[in-house]
Amino acid sequence: MRTIRIGMLGCGVVGQGVVKLLKKHQPDFQRNGFDLKLTQVAVKHLGKHREVDLHGVRVCQDPLAVAKDPDIDLLVEVMGGREVAMEAGLAALSRGIPVVSANKAALARGLSRYLEAAAGSGAALGFEAACAAHIPIIEALDRSLACEEITLVKGVVNGTTNYILTLMERTGFSFAEALADATAKGFTEADPSLDVDGIDAAEKLTLLVFKAFGQYVPPEQIHTEGISRVTRADMLLSQALNHRVKLIAGARVVDGKLNCSVHPALIHRGELLADVDSEFNAIILEGPAFKELTFMGKGAGQLPTASAVLNDIVKFARGGRGAALPGFVKAPAAPLAQAPTKHLAYCYFLRLKILSSGIVDGVVSFLETQNVKVLSKAYISDGEGDYLGLITDVVKESRLSHLMATLRRVDGVLEEPAFIRLDKDNYRDIVEHEQRAYFGASLERQSGPRV
Ligand SMILES: NC(=O)c1ccc[n+]([C@@H]2O[C@H](COP(=O)([O-])OP(=O)(O)OC[C@H]3O[C@@H](n4cnc5c(N)ncnc54)[C@H](OP(=O)(O)O)[C@@H]3O)[C@@H](O)[C@H]2O)c1
Repeated sequence: MRTIRIGMLGCGVVGQGVVKLLKKHQPDFQRNGFDLKLTQVAVKHLGKHREVDLHGVRVCQDPLAVAKDPDIDLLVEVMGGREVAMEAGLAALSRGIPVVSANKAALARGLSRYLEAAAGSGAALGFEAACAAHIPIIEALDRSLACEEITLVKGVVNGTTNYILTLMERTGFSFAEALADATAKGFTEADPSLDVDGIDAAEKLTLLVFKAFGQYVPPEQIHTEGISRVTRADMLLSQALNHRVKLIAGARVVDGKLNCSVHPALIHRGELLADVDSEFNAIILEGPAFKELTFMGKGAGQLPTASAVLNDIVKFARGGRGAALPGFVKAPAAPLAQAPTKHLAYCYFLRLKILSSGIVDGVVSFLETQNVKVLSKAYISDGEGDYLGLITDVVKESRLSHLMATLRRVDGVLEEPAFIRLDKDNYRDIVEHEQRAYFGASLERQSGPRV
């Protein structure tokens, strides 16, 4: 029987899950003619108590030594961090050792270098776990959709922000209170800004974009906004407007250019993404041939993530490169130019702090004088003040800051308004829906928004 010797970097939440699953599935491996044996592990703290038995495994504190050790056949990287993790991964790949990694931070930033090392030695790199953990989206893009033209990939890919937004909605907590709760429950990274500022979602989007469009867009080039500016009033108003707020990571082809962005968005309650809560993730793909595909599942947690790692290991053990980098890479005639978010147009949710409900009609009329049609409105009065929430028709993003400054000068508007984009890819439907609600079902589709 062929034995594959595994070196693993990190034995924390995910690493310990991998150890558990390796043990649990040993009979399955053997039935299929191979054995997977964990032989070496690198950790930071040698004396730390672990929930798994590492008896018979060589444990050290030097990730690079494990990656370079001639006595391993495969490297698993579940350590996190950037430089050390990348250096170790590249060291293994460049000497032909396959690498399975859950570390989106290192992969997204060093993708070109990983690709180069993998191509140079012919070693495979599996990274299913790095992108929405247990959702097999990388495998699907690499195999089942290998030659599919994709025009949109978007989704809810960060469980922590999802938890915080859900908590704000259900309890009336402020962002700071919900973040404190998520931190106390251990749902945030050591540095919570990686989640709440959208960085983690942007890293995952980099990996998705590479597999969907064959193009490397580093996280720094992705328009990224987090959720820290979302307020209790936004939650109450969006509820009243029949929407939910989610952090959406998306890449879409617009007029032959690629727009990549991460930002909070209002999703209509009828949309699937509106129902994705807590640690669940969902990813939607669109393309001219298959129209729409949706993937939903657990995007974090010990066993969902470890299981995605294990399935990549098993793909390599079975002899295939599987969902590996470089895998099946699309070759666009030329890389798509990027379409900056500020050049696009969206429907917007606007939140205005106002003196009283008496000025609502005045604000709506004022917007109409600015050629901005209001599709829906809601008003709330809570302990913190009176707020007006509006959903506008499509407005160019480039007009927005001027519009906000002008709105601030309307009598009875107490502070500069804030905005959240609507999930752009269904704004036609949303507009139609809102118009139907106002004007009845007889409305013709062509009377919808100007696009
Ligand atoms: N947790 C999830 O749900 C999840 C989901 C998807 C992807 N991921 C990714 O999976 C990776 C691991 O996440 P995790 O939650 O398992 O993290 P974790 O619980 O913090 O574990 C990290 C492990 O790496 C070790 N380590 C860290 N720096 C090291 C260094 N310089 N040298 C040697 N060992 C080092 C730590 O050692 P000690 O134990 O001795 O401190 C620990 O065992 C990350 O890249 C994360 O983004 C996690």
